[in-house]
Amino acid sequence: MAGMAQTPTSRPRILSGMQPTSDSLHIGNYIGALTSWIGLQDDFEPYFFVADLHALTVATDPEVVRRRTRLTAAQYIAAGIDTDRCAVFCQSHVREHAEVMWVLSCQTAMGEMERMTQFKDKVAKGQKANVGLFTYPVLMAGDILLYDAQRVPVGEDQRQHLEITRDLAVRFNQRFGETFVVPEPHILKQSAKIMDLQEPTAKMSKTSSSPKGMIDILDDPKRIAKNIRSAVTDGEGEVRYDPEGKPGVSNLLVIHSALSGTPVDELERRFEGQGYGSFKGEVADVVVDAVAPFRERIEELTSDPAELDRILAAGAERARTVAAATMDRVREAVGLLAAGV
Ligand code: AMP
Ligand code: TRP
Repeated sequence: MAGMAQTPTSRPRILSGMQPTSDSLHIGNYIGALTSWIGLQDDFEPYFFVADLHALTVATDPEVVRRRTRLTAAQYIAAGIDTDRCAVFCQSHVREHAEVMWVLSCQTAMGEMERMTQFKDKVAKGQKANVGLFTYPVLMAGDILLYDAQRVPVGEDQRQHLEITRDLAVRFNQRFGETFVVPEPHILKQSAKIMDLQEPTAKMSKTSSSPKGMIDILDDPKRIAKNIRSAVTDGEGEVRYDPEGKPGVSNLLVIHSALSGTPVDELERRFEGQGYGSFKGEVADVVVDAVAPFRERIEELTSDPAELDRILAAGAERARTVAAATMDRVREAVGLLAAGV
């Protein structure tokens, strides 16, 4: 039987990642995911990676993959991820991700993958399905299980992927002995879901939102402001939080509140009787001011790719220590001979 999973520090491990599938994160990724990662770095031992292997499921020019991988890492750091306390790295730099995925694939039933809703949605939206897209959740399970991660902070859309990760960990442990830590989902608050500005009943998404429906945090401030000023609202003219009846206005309230720290009810009082013009103007100012330092820091980081690569190499080094130990347990558990013996 393989040895028990171990946690070398007293802080529980936390792990998350994003795919480098666009040049800029949007305000939903920032408010919904990244800011909560930052809030977790004190109490946990964090591993935050760029899911570059996952991004290969979408056919993209290699030069673009490289650029977006660096940009995504730079955005983690610019948002406030502290690289002294957190391992920030590229998934592909730790080869155990691909390796553990193979072993887990051999424990996964076809039917389990066939019922994954994100796969079905992507195919329904016309994305060409390759085998990588089909087995995407197995790679994600490997990402998590390699680090004995106890918590995985992600949005609601990733819930099913976390469930399959738990199922695979439990099944593996039952079959081969205690090898993996079974992770707890850490689904980020529903209120943090940011909606498309033009279609406020659908979530803001880099794959399905139109350019006018998005707030890309690296976008030109003028265009950000313009998109906010032309956000779809309603004919009532009252600034009130009511996600069912007034999704557009409610979304703008959530964005303002998340970035300014002002409670929604205080904003409602402040804009009473003022109509949407001045409200939208202030939301635009709040967003533009919030992203300005962020843009500067990104420019600094991306103007020195060698330094960024050094940070990623150091992060991978830390990650590899943990991943290699887990992979040794996995190899032994399933009966693979130790190399070189
Ligand atoms: P993705 O852009 O789909 O790779 O997502 C990266 C992270 O951002 C995940 O944790 C998502 O759950 C989160 N996320 C994506 N879109 C939104 C949104 N519109 N509002 C809040 N969080 C989001
Ligand atoms: N699938 C996640 C997303 O699209 C990205 C991801 C890949 C991830 N591997 C992970 C998130 C492991 C958390 C843990 O957002």
